[in-house]
Amino acid sequence: MSPLLATQGLTVRFGGLEAIGRLDLAIARGAIHGLIGPNGAGKTTVLNTLTGFIRPSAGELTFDGQEIGGLSVNAIARAGLARTFQNIRLFGAMTVMESLLVGAHRRFGASPLGLIFGSAKARATERAMIARAHELLEFVGLGSDYAERVATTLSYGHQRRVEIARALMASPKLLLLDEPLAGMNALEKTEIADLVRAVRKEGITVLLIEHDMQIVRALCDHLTVLDYGKRLADGAPDAVLSDPAVQAAYLGRERV
Ligand SMILES: Nc1ncnc2c1ncn2[C@@H]1O[C@H](COP(=O)(O)OP(=O)(O)OP(=O)(O)O)[C@@H](O)[C@H]1O
Ligand SMILES: [Mg+2]
Repeated sequence: MSPLLATQGLTVRFGGLEAIGRLDLAIARGAIHGLIGPNGAGKTTVLNTLTGFIRPSAGELTFDGQEIGGLSVNAIARAGLARTFQNIRLFGAMTVMESLLVGAHRRFGASPLGLIFGSAKARATERAMIARAHELLEFVGLGSDYAERVATTLSYGHQRRVEIARALMASPKLLLLDEPLAGMNALEKTEIADLVRAVRKEGITVLLIEHDMQIVRALCDHLTVLDYGKRLADGAPDAVLSDPAVQAAYLGRERV
């Protein structure tokens, strides 16, 4: 079966810096695909490029049979990619429900003005989105009680769950998570790992950036290792993590 997402020769330059160099990446449908590598290796840049936040300098980017390189962030979201951010981005005054509805509007294009002046159809769509938001709050382990809380007042771990729920509101085919476990304690890490498994069980493919190798080994079906923007290794987790070149790349550079 063809991969859900494939890059060929993907290259990103920031001035004189080649942040990503001729990267070939293939993400299989239904996989939890780990993207790992030392700090500054280019992981977030890959994710930013796949989701349209950064334009590739060269290379091809195919998602579900469609060339998406150079499309806008919104067009890529509509094609079925949704993401979370390394640094949580929730807006100051919004409730959890409002934050989730923003996620849905981005994908389905229902406009708030359409609601105010709006048709019965727009109102029905909004009702369906609100119902979906409640379902997803349960799914990510928060529950409907959180809907009217101001998102930024929640604990860090709960904000992460809100971000994941917001991304899922877009009904993505591919969910891209940039270090969703960073800053969490051992229990929270296990819970988020379980949530990632549950997402995959729903038929959503996952690209996961993560530094905790124990979690990566337990969670991922396939790993790609980046080092200085280049693909250093690619394959099954056990083989990749025991590769001397991968271990050497991490020596002295891994986050504590
Ligand atoms: N917008 C930008 N403009 C210029 N340089 C950038 C930009 N974004 C990233 N870089 C540089 O590109 C390289 C890769 O950065 P990136 O954030 O992708 O690494 P990373 O693998 O996600 O690292 P970390 O594990 O610390 O999150 C770094 O040298 C970084 O300084
Ligand atoms: Mg990063």
